[in-house]
Amino acid sequence: MQIKSSVHDYAVEEFGTFAETLTAARTAQPLYLIDRRVHELYPGEFASVPPESCVLIDASEKQKAFENLTPVFLEILRHGMRRDWTLIVIGGGVLQDIGCFIATVLFRGARWELIPTTLLAQADSCIGSKSSINIGPYKNQIGTFYPPHRVLLTDDVLRTLPWDEIRSGLGEVIKLQLLSSRADYAELMTDLATFKGEGATLAKWTRRSLTVKQPYIETDEFDRGVRNLLNYGHTFGHAYESATDFGIPHGVSVILGILTATFVSAQLGLVDAQHYLELKTALAPWHQPYGDVLRAAERERVFAAIRHDKKNTRGVVQCILTRGPGAMEKRAVSLEDELVPAVNTFIDGELS
Ligand SMILES: NC(=O)c1ccc[n+]([C@@H]2O[C@H](COP(=O)([O-])OP(=O)(O)OC[C@H]3O[C@@H](n4cnc5c(N)ncnc54)[C@H](O)[C@@H]3O)[C@@H](O)[C@H]2O)c1
Ligand SMILES: [Zn+2]
Repeated sequence: MQIKSSVHDYAVEEFGTFAETLTAARTAQPLYLIDRRVHELYPGEFASVPPESCVLIDASEKQKAFENLTPVFLEILRHGMRRDWTLIVIGGGVLQDIGCFIATVLFRGARWELIPTTLLAQADSCIGSKSSINIGPYKNQIGTFYPPHRVLLTDDVLRTLPWDEIRSGLGEVIKLQLLSSRADYAELMTDLATFKGEGATLAKWTRRSLTVKQPYIETDEFDRGVRNLLNYGHTFGHAYESATDFGIPHGVSVILGILTATFVSAQLGLVDAQHYLELKTALAPWHQPYGDVLRAAERERVFAAIRHDKKNTRGVVQCILTRGPGAMEKRAVSLEDELVPAVNTFIDGELS
């Protein structure tokens, strides 16, 4: 798969084993930025990667904060990285965000390659150029657009992914298939009805998800127009994540956010209530029991987060709502009059 970007075009390449992927990523002067957990889980694979070219970091929202990146920059520089070296980033969305941000500004632009190791990163975030970094209490409020020079995909590395991280990745997969069409969404849900973590199913939907995302990021790389639709479920999802101190995995929050956006759409008469009820039943296994975590969150923190979202001004929230599968649209919704009552009803009554 070849992705067009105004920064530079890049390829998404597929490999068999994780070991083969690491071999394929090796460049003349590599500097590896690796998720510490992935490094621990694959000692055999990493045996051939010299420790002096590795920087290991924790995949946490805290580590993704601007104020905590200085030690990472310093460690990379202490390892001797120069402008003509390649940063090889190995991990999930957190490592991708940090690696992309560093590659953008280090030497005013370093070559970088990405080996995504979570379903979320493989099926969604690995294409699209974005880095998003937290600052103080604000999540993802600073960032850049700078795609990797290569993305190297391997299903092999997903075998160690915990079930909640699989569900989190499926949140983005479900979102993308809902954006695509009723038929694609129905096919996905048929596959998920018997899904127990099989690699072949994950591989199929990773590719299908990237194919749905590709035209959005190619026609609107800088997220000024149609790419906004990829935020379906995210205005609410981000608020749920931050109101629970990241107690809900990102993609699971997105599932809860998709349900909220669809509930609001039904309340505003954009979509048949039947569509919402079908989604509610179909998506329950993919978010339970995180509804309880959300219900326990301080409600005012949820609304404060929605109010603080960078897309919102003066009591009006820009939401991606739906008229059904394949039919999302951006709408300005009044926070106090429309959203607060709908979100309260959703959280109190719809999540059991
Ligand atoms: N830049 C973008 O376009 C974009 C898009 C979506 C999400 N994001 C960001 O991505 C982050 C979430 O990313 P994520 O869901 O990939 O989570 P993550 O990077 O936090 O990883 C989740 C957990 O899985 C572990 N892990 C990673 N790979 C593993 C493997 N192969 N086996 C076992 N454990 C493994 C990690 O150590 C971590 O504990 C959020 O910060 C979100 O804001 C960015
Ligand atoms: Zn997301």
